[in-house]
Amino acid sequence: MVIFLLIPFIIFMLVRKFLVRKEVKNIANKHIVVIGGSSGIGKSIAELAARKNAHVTIIARNIDKLAQAIEDIRKCSVNPAEQRISYVSVDVTNFEDIENNLCEIEETIGPIYMLVNCAGFAICGEMERFSVHEIKSLININILGSIYPVKAIIPKFKQRREGIIVLTGSLVSLFGMYGYSIYSSCKFALRGLAEAIHMELKPFGVTVTLALPPDTDTPGFHQENKSKPIETSKISTMGTLYKPDEVAEKILRDALDGNFFSYIGFNGFILTTLCKGFSPFKSFRQVIFESAILGLIRFVSAFYVVQMQKIIQLCFDEKEQRKRGQRKNKYT
Ligand SMILES: NC(=O)c1ccc[n+]([C@@H]2O[C@H](COP(=O)([O-])OP(=O)(O)OC[C@H]3O[C@@H](n4cnc5c(N)ncnc54)[C@H](OP(=O)(O)O)[C@@H]3O)[C@@H](O)[C@H]2O)c1
Repeated sequence: MVIFLLIPFIIFMLVRKFLVRKEVKNIANKHIVVIGGSSGIGKSIAELAARKNAHVTIIARNIDKLAQAIEDIRKCSVNPAEQRISYVSVDVTNFEDIENNLCEIEETIGPIYMLVNCAGFAICGEMERFSVHEIKSLININILGSIYPVKAIIPKFKQRREGIIVLTGSLVSLFGMYGYSIYSSCKFALRGLAEAIHMELKPFGVTVTLALPPDTDTPGFHQENKSKPIETSKISTMGTLYKPDEVAEKILRDALDGNFFSYIGFNGFILTTLCKGFSPFKSFRQVIFESAILGLIRFVSAFYVVQMQKIIQLCFDEKEQRKRGQRKNKYT
């Protein structure tokens, strides 16, 4: 009997989730700050916000890239006479710099309504191959580079009793994958940060969204590919490569809808649903839906795990075979 009620309910929830477009908050005339807005996903979010008539400030380090990006973002504005589209060069891993600059931006442009942090990068490789310098730079940008701007903006959002914070994790915020030991550790940390500040800020009307982009065709992704071990590249082909505009649209929509996780696609849905744990939810209907499909999804995840293990074992066997061949050649 229960199963006959559950199946239509699950279908109804899936249709609602994937096919129904809900109205979200309007950001016309609101001030949106995008850290990491000169490239990739951050730039796409900034362009999208400009198309929605928001005032947009992008932050990154390289001034040439910022100047180039701001031209593209200005072209997206719908009310060029009124909309303020500007950039600031700041290294987000320096707390004083980011704090002072966020204060200045508020004085010149207006109160920040939404802070999106997309600054980050990955270096791949087997754990023991990382230099201490690489480990520190990954931790600096991916963890401290998220904690610092959030620490700087929270007092303002709390005082105004409104605001939206978007942190950018990754699918490897939810599961550790071959070649991503350091990056994944950093992105896992963002989940803890996002859940904790979500609890702290909810009474103040401030929302937090943790974006979990899949592989996305950006300059950062192309750079990351250069360091990927063969195992990581092969496992990555199990997923889809998305366009930054698609990912940006989903992130902005989820953030404006107050969703805690922002994911895209089937893999994102499976992984996020499986790893929800103690994360915040918006309705009990959603919790019932997730509980109903959790067992099935765990089963699906086992298929992915086996596939990944097979790829790793095959690569290992090939390497061993090559090594044996090389040793043989040496002694003949
Ligand atoms: N692309 C993917 O497949 C993918 C998948 C999952 C998660 N993500 C995450 O999504 C975010 C955006 O990725 P993306 O591929 O769009 O990156 P991207 O194209 O490399 O852009 C990164 C942006 O961050 C800025 N940035 C880097 N370090 C900075 C610093 N210390 N201070 C200020 N700004 C800094 C960069 O500009 P400057 O270098 O000039 O500072 C640039 O504007 C990252 O957090 C990444 O980890 C990406």
